[in-house]
This record gives sequence, structure tokens and C-alpha cells, in this order.
Amino acid sequence: NEAKLTSSILSRCFYFDELPSTNAFLLKHVEELSSGDICIAEYQSAGRGRRGRNWVSPYGCHLYCSMYWKLEQGMAQASGLSLVVACALVEVLKCLGIDDLGVKWPNDIYLNNKKLAGVLIEMSGQPDSECHLVIGIGINISMSHAQGDKIDQAWSDLSDNPSCPEKTDLAVALQKQLKIDLETFQNDGLTAFLERWKAVDIFFGKQVKLLMGDNEINGICKGIDSTGAILLETDKGLVPFVGGEISLRSG
Ligand code: BTN
Repeated sequence: NEAKLTSSILSRCFYFDELPSTNAFLLKHVEELSSGDICIAEYQSAGRGRRGRNWVSPYGCHLYCSMYWKLEQGMAQASGLSLVVACALVEVLKCLGIDDLGVKWPNDIYLNNKKLAGVLIEMSGQPDSECHLVIGIGINISMSHAQGDKIDQAWSDLSDNPSCPEKTDLAVALQKQLKIDLETFQNDGLTAFLERWKAVDIFFGKQVKLLMGDNEINGICKGIDSTGAILLETDKGLVPFVGGEISLRSG
């Protein structure tokens, strides 16, 4: 079987000094985009995070980058994709010489046990036909500036790292790696990433709690299933969960 090439070799980069949000920009222009096109801004006035949170985006401090990708067979094809994006991010950072990386399911990137980068995937389109995907990535480069509401957890950045990369080098490397990994994902599915996931999963084998709305589920993290759902060993046996916020169970 010959692999189907979804993105062209050459992709575009839309660069802005300032935007409300790089995700919002690409979502507004999906009809004119090709898979692999990216958008970067030095500052976001309305950066978006997961779960409706803001992504505080001060000028020039961090990388704010989004990539467009088209799924020909609709949203169902996207299940597990956020884990692939996390694997791609870790790969790029590792290749640039950054160690001690891990991923908190589904796609928070941690450096030395503190959050370094976040991923927000947004979609437009119908459930069972062509679907437009925007993969937004925020990486902390230097946290020296005020971070507004970034106080809810411990954050890390790359400023003290001897391998601290140039922002543009990072964006170019990310674009390249994401294109490779998304092609693989489309051709071979999540199974092609299970080993890579296992190597970066920071909660594997640990006692965790999963918050889903008002529900708290306790269990031991047993990795992921073939759809990307997190597997928890609970008092009801091994159960897959597709959503929720996971954290370590203290005490
Ligand atoms: C998270 O909450 O962890 C995800 C944060 C994603 C932030 C990035 S920055 C570039 C892109 N544009 C946005 O508005 N958000 C994403």
C-alpha cells in the first residue's frame, strides 16, 4: 500500500507581530489553507487555552504557533491525535537537546515536572465529512515577564536551558515534525505511536485522580488504549476515559 501524502513538501508560514489568537486566525481562513501551513505571532491579545481558559501571551516572550491540517474523513479520524501532537513536540525538543521532558495526558508538556507547553486543538466541519483542524501550540521560552493568570500551577521555561532554541528554529522544526507524524498517524493510526507515548507518559503506574465535571475517579494509570483514551485501574476494573483532567493523587 502506498502512503497517501496529505501535505505538500512546501508549506506556508504566516507571521504576525500581533494577533488575537493564531488559532483564531487559521480557523478564519481554513478554505484558503493547505495541510502543514502554520501561523506564528509575537503577541496574542486573546490567546486561548484548553477548557475555555486564557493563554496569557506577552510580547516576544514565548512561541505562539498554530498549524492547519485537513482530515478528509471527518472528525472521527481525529481521535488520539492530540497525543500524536504531544509526541511530536517532545521529539522536537529532545532533538534540540532538551532533556527531562514528559507528557501529562492528553498533551501537556512538562519539563522537570513543571508545565512547559500546552496544546489546543480546534476543529470546524461536519462529523462525517471533510474536517478542518487547527493545532495550537504555546511553548514557554522565557517566563521573566508577568504571566497574569498563569499562577494556577508550576511552570517551566527554556531560558535557563543551555539548549534554549531560537523561536523561529523551534517553529520550523515543529512544522516539519508535525507533518511527518500527522502523515504517519493518518496512514497507520495511533498504534504507530504507542511506544513513543509510553516513553513520555509521566503518570504511568501512578495513583491518579481524574476530574470529570463534579465526578472524581481514582485509579492507577495504566497508559492509553488504541483510541488514545486513558486507562485507569479502578475498583471496577480497567476503565478507559476519553476526557477529564488528570492529576497525581496526594496522600
Ligand atoms: C493549554 O491550555 O494548555 C493550551 C494552550 C495553547 C496555547 C496556544 S498559543 C498558540 C495557539 N493560539 C491560541 O490562541 N492558543 C494556542
